[in-house]
Amino acid sequence: NTYVVIMAGGIGSRFWPFSRTNYPKQFHDVLGIGESMLQTTAKRFADICPPENLFIVTNKDYEALVKEQLPELSDNQILLEPVGRNTAPCIAYASYKIAQLNPKANLVVTPADHVVLKQDVFTEVVKDALDAASKDDVLITLGITPSRPDTGYGYIQYIDEKNSKIKKVKTFTEKPNLELAQMFLDSGDFVWNSGIFIWNVQSILKAFHQHLPEITEVFEEGNSTFNTPQEQNFITRAYSQCRNVSIDYGIMEKVDNVYVLLADIGWSDLGTWNSLYTINDKDENGNVVDGDVMLYDTKDCIIKTPKNRLVVLQGLDDFIVAEYDNVLMICRKEEEQKVKEFVADAKSKK
Ligand code: GDD
Ligand code: MG
Repeated sequence: NTYVVIMAGGIGSRFWPFSRTNYPKQFHDVLGIGESMLQTTAKRFADICPPENLFIVTNKDYEALVKEQLPELSDNQILLEPVGRNTAPCIAYASYKIAQLNPKANLVVTPADHVVLKQDVFTEVVKDALDAASKDDVLITLGITPSRPDTGYGYIQYIDEKNSKIKKVKTFTEKPNLELAQMFLDSGDFVWNSGIFIWNVQSILKAFHQHLPEITEVFEEGNSTFNTPQEQNFITRAYSQCRNVSIDYGIMEKVDNVYVLLADIGWSDLGTWNSLYTINDKDENGNVVDGDVMLYDTKDCIIKTPKNRLVVLQGLDDFIVAEYDNVLMICRKEEEQKVKEFVADAKSKK
């Protein structure tokens, strides 16, 4: 009864110019390990669900990329969105479709752009969560011990019942401001939401019904089309009626049956250049290099450039140097939040 849903429709704009609208980061070999983040994510579930129960939700523009990277999937396992409406509609779509195949399904919903270093622990933790979710009306997330006041994450405060692995959540705060994030971190009571969710399909449909009724209404109307040739037509109409809302704001912040399983799985979210810098091995000068480079008096940089391009750098300290396709970006590491601005400006320049 276990099904896995990989959400792979984001554009990853903070990873520009490497991540591009026509080739987002989840389809890249970001870590230089010979497979894309999507392929790594799919493999991560090999011992958790049978291959025919793995579903990918992505934008219709990435259909060919998904098929090329995961050729073993059947067409019915690739859910195509006409437009991105964030994670709530994406999860609603997958949930309605899977519920139609198997009303007793237990789901793992996961992003496509995370690193999990401890595979064995991950498999064990997810199986524990699935076990709990199959028995109760609970929405479970894997919780990660925070290491910095990052404002890009959800923060979870839980009730510490010593003898239970799965802890009841008191508060869920999505993307707090810096001041609040710092307070959460200092208090020691909070963990990050990993964005990896486990629940039975009836529980998540119930939560949609209560907290995002307008989305429920849209998808329920199409129930008879799921897993038939009419599905795609219905979805095109449905998405035009959905607003943009994430599962975190739309549901996780609001429900009172959220539980967290503390998961020491070697997790990181490869959302930004600095996160890639942090998890990689550095050379003796603190540089992370992927490309053909000659470095002089250069330290603490992250450099990712095409293999067929010789790059010579002198006197650079704490920079991102990234080239992909027809764009070269050189930006101070601590100014990486400007990347989103660059993307917007580059688009309007076209
Ligand atoms: N199919 C589809 N459609 N996928 C999407 C869409 C969409 O419209 N929007 C985002 N995704 C995918 C992304 O590709 C990513 O794999 C995943 O859904 C999560 O979306 P993000 O946009 O990366 O979310 P976030 O990082 O801002 O926040 C979430 O993850 C954090 C941990 O990494 C939240 O769940 C936070 O609470 C959490 O801490
Ligand atoms: Mg993310």
